[in-house]
Amino acid sequence: MSELNLILLGPPGAGKGTQATRLRKDFSLPYIATGDLLRDHRERDTELGQAASEYMNNGKLVPDDLVIKMILDRIEAEGGDGFLLDGFPRTVAQADALGAEMANLGRRLTAALLVQADDDEVVRRLSGRRQCRQGHVYHVDFDPPKHEGVCDQDGTKLFQRDDDRPEIVLRRLAEYHEQTEPLIDYYERRDLLRRFNGARAPTEVHDHIRATLATLRLEDQL
Ligand code: AP5
Repeated sequence: MSELNLILLGPPGAGKGTQATRLRKDFSLPYIATGDLLRDHRERDTELGQAASEYMNNGKLVPDDLVIKMILDRIEAEGGDGFLLDGFPRTVAQADALGAEMANLGRRLTAALLVQADDDEVVRRLSGRRQCRQGHVYHVDFDPPKHEGVCDQDGTKLFQRDDDRPEIVLRRLAEYHEQTEPLIDYYERRDLLRRFNGARAPTEVHDHIRATLATLRLEDQL
């Protein structure tokens, strides 16, 4: 079976994490989520966590040099047979660094999966998002837990991320449009971009991604 080296791209709240949960089950891929790793550093109060904290709290991107090293180390440690990257790359400098690393390793990306959603939908989704410490994600209207405020899967308390406050969501969106959107063209020019309509139901988005990956794998075997 050919190796899958996948990137999830898209605005905050498009459903990248939601799709990642499903794709991990389908393909047993190591999942490397930049936001989760940074939040973990912040909670453990590491040097990196301290440096990243102010940027994250304000909806800004963390500087490239901090993020690039953290992710390339992870790919080296866990991604030898494939990976699913969520939230990296987010700038052209990060995409270049990833490309150089893959070339060094004699490997190549399989696809950049772009999950799209417009700004109004993003604000609606993130203002209603709730999650537990294990990262199980809900939405108060679209995907509520059975018991309000409690995770269905592990019974722990749900909380709202600090950066899901409306004024910070708008800044995250502005960062996305300015710094990350150019990657759509970047990966399109390399014939790696695959687009998915994130406004559709999670199951439909998932089915479409799976079908696309199956086709890519078939083409790879020809
Ligand atoms: P990060 O944690 O990566 O946040 P993000 O990309 O902004 O993405 P989110 O996790 O908010 O959204 P998602 O697309 O995963 O949506 P979800 O599936 O949860 O980054 C946080 C911060 O870290 C950044 O702001 C930055 O500071 C820093 N950072 C991270 N990476 C960096 C990098 N590479 N460089 C520099 N800094 C970096 O879904 C959202 C909600 O919608 C949920 O409630 C869900 O239930 C619901 N939902 C999902 N899909 C659907 C659907 N199809 N229909 C209806 N509802 C849906």
